[in-house]
Amino acid sequence: MCHGYGPPDTVVVEELPPPALGPGQARVRVGAASVNFPDVLLVAGGYQVKVPTPFVPGSELAGEVVEVASDVTGVAVGQHVYGSTLVGAFAEEAVVAAGSLTPVPEGVEDAVAAAFGVAHRTAYHVLRSVARLRPGEELVVLGAGGGVGLAAVQLGSVLGASVTAVASSDDKLGAAAAMGARRLVDHTRVDLREALRAELAEGADVVVDPVGGALSEPALRSLRWGGRFVTVGYASGEIPRIPLNLVLLKGVAVLGFQFVDFATHMPQERARDEEELQRLLATGRAYPHIGARFALEDAAAALRRVADGRAVGKVVLDVMARAPA
Ligand SMILES: NC(=O)c1ccc[n+]([C@@H]2O[C@H](COP(=O)([O-])OP(=O)(O)OC[C@H]3O[C@@H](n4cnc5c(N)ncnc54)[C@H](OP(=O)(O)O)[C@@H]3O)[C@@H](O)[C@H]2O)c1
Repeated sequence: MCHGYGPPDTVVVEELPPPALGPGQARVRVGAASVNFPDVLLVAGGYQVKVPTPFVPGSELAGEVVEVASDVTGVAVGQHVYGSTLVGAFAEEAVVAAGSLTPVPEGVEDAVAAAFGVAHRTAYHVLRSVARLRPGEELVVLGAGGGVGLAAVQLGSVLGASVTAVASSDDKLGAAAAMGARRLVDHTRVDLREALRAELAEGADVVVDPVGGALSEPALRSLRWGGRFVTVGYASGEIPRIPLNLVLLKGVAVLGFQFVDFATHMPQERARDEEELQRLLATGRAYPHIGARFALEDAAAALRRVADGRAVGKVVLDVMARAPA
């Protein structure tokens, strides 16, 4: 429970009555939940949407459907599902919009499914439908050891791009290499602009930026003429200001991605991407890197791991995990 906005340690574990089930909702017995950066911001009261306290944090889960509202079709009791919500996932039971749930492919563990949804969906929509990444292109990923970044490294490789991973530690870059990155840049040890110029003599085709701050401009400068820069988030806490003359001189496109708007405005692309991504998960070609697992009782520590930028890939809460089918 988050009783008042603040740092991760504000979150405490309590016994509560099961949440009420509303129209269009399904009750899920949570097997695993995963931590996303917005969970930290929601607890801090610093997200774009403010949830009144008290609330149960957690926006991503996998588990078994144990009850559905009478108007729900498409999701049935007993089904194993994964999906996302705004809050409520760090619990033994959660009620979520039934429409946001997807069946877990056979053989996929709850922790894997819970860690897959937000990061991989974000990365795939960004690469496939926003940047329109093509095989053989040069892709630069910032925050490449984080949830979205590591998914972008893996999915960029799956889509046939040559990936340059930018991150702050050997651990993160090692994970990016294991996900298919060909070039690794530790931005804490080198000048990013110089390093990208040295690595990519012809320039990059696409930059994916979930970090913002001081890294964005040098990454944008690494683009070749006509390249695409996609802004996805500001984990650094700083929204960068890009000099517009760079856009003019380089003839680049600066694009944005936000989940809700994408789903509303590009429904066909969304449906196509979801289908492709589900196939990639089912066939093991796409999967999350789970860097740390915590018990539900340690939800505050799990949030802290993400808040501090120390997470490698995804952080998972094992709630009532089941063995894969
Ligand atoms: N637009 C959308 O629809 C959408 C969807 C999902 C996520 N997002 C946003 O994308 C961003 C990344 O999400 P994520 O799940 O990948 O987060 P994450 O796993 O925590 O990774 C964020 C990365 O940002 C870097 N970073 C730099 N300064 C940081 C700081 N002060 N605190 C934390 N990280 C810092 C770190 O990389 P280095 O240490 O390597 O520099 C870290 O690995 C967040 O802002 C999130 O809200 C947006």
